[in-house]
Amino acid sequence: MKKILVTGAMGQIGSELVGKLRETYGTSNVIATDIRAGEGLATEGPFEKLDVTDADRMHAVAKQYNVDTIMHLAALLSANAEAMPKVAWDLNMGGLVNALEVARELDLQFFTPSSIGAFGPSTPKDNTPQDTLQRPTTMYGVNKVAGELLCDYYYQRYGVDTRGVRYPGLISYVAPPGGGTTDYAVEIYYEAIKNKIYTSYIAEGTYMDMMYMPDALNAIIQLMEADPAKLVHRNAFNISAISAAPEDFAQAIRQHIPEFKMTYDVDPVRQKIADSWPNSIDSSAAAAEWGFRAEYDLAKMTGEMLEKIKEK
Ligand code: SER
Repeated sequence: MKKILVTGAMGQIGSELVGKLRETYGTSNVIATDIRAGEGLATEGPFEKLDVTDADRMHAVAKQYNVDTIMHLAALLSANAEAMPKVAWDLNMGGLVNALEVARELDLQFFTPSSIGAFGPSTPKDNTPQDTLQRPTTMYGVNKVAGELLCDYYYQRYGVDTRGVRYPGLISYVAPPGGGTTDYAVEIYYEAIKNKIYTSYIAEGTYMDMMYMPDALNAIIQLMEADPAKLVHRNAFNISAISAAPEDFAQAIRQHIPEFKMTYDVDPVRQKIADSWPNSIDSSAAAAEWGFRAEYDLAKMTGEMLEKIKEK
């Protein structure tokens, strides 16, 4: 991994990943791309406007910069995908197959994230195994399962060095997620600082996996640098740091803001998605095969989130 092209660089993960990669591999060695105009960190080094459904342009940019790795992040999240299923299919699957083709043609290492959304109501809910039943009931989930299989296929059929993780809800104070089911776990911190009250669209008692962004970024680098001989799985490692329900976040916030209040106004669409996802997933394969370990639990993440948002 010496020269890396990142798609979706202005998104929730990309906004921070680009900075982290540039610190690690050098500014000129990370080519940030996005369909949106670049701003902020992304443009402090090479930036190209790129719509991932444009296969020729993706190929041309990868070739122009002579990259050896592609990190494909551009995608619609779960709630947005549910609102626009066909758009989600075209973007999530079309973008992915284009990126895989570029990796095949130019012999690039490849990373793309899957998600806890790749599980469905018939998946075991607690300590969800690495290898288990996957019959998701959302368009996002259908895209993610198909994506996991497609990445496996490109490895088996063409020898493309594809790797990936199943991310839980990702929490950060830098870029907002937008259109996901787990977004509440970001919003709650902003509202706690601004108004000391948050109305959750996810019901009390709904557990989902979560992770603080620094752990999510470290996981990508660790997995991409891992010895391929040790990888039994490649493309869809379960990773998680926190299994929590809205009231757990409220409780953690009250350690810092005792007067913080939480109310509920459940959104049936996102609640249904959340109910179809695991309560907690088992990350032991990632730990065994490439040493995954999360540094942040709910308490540690909450302290840092509140502090950073206050500074902002
Ligand atoms: N955070 C994502 C979502 O809610 C899950 O992959 O859509």
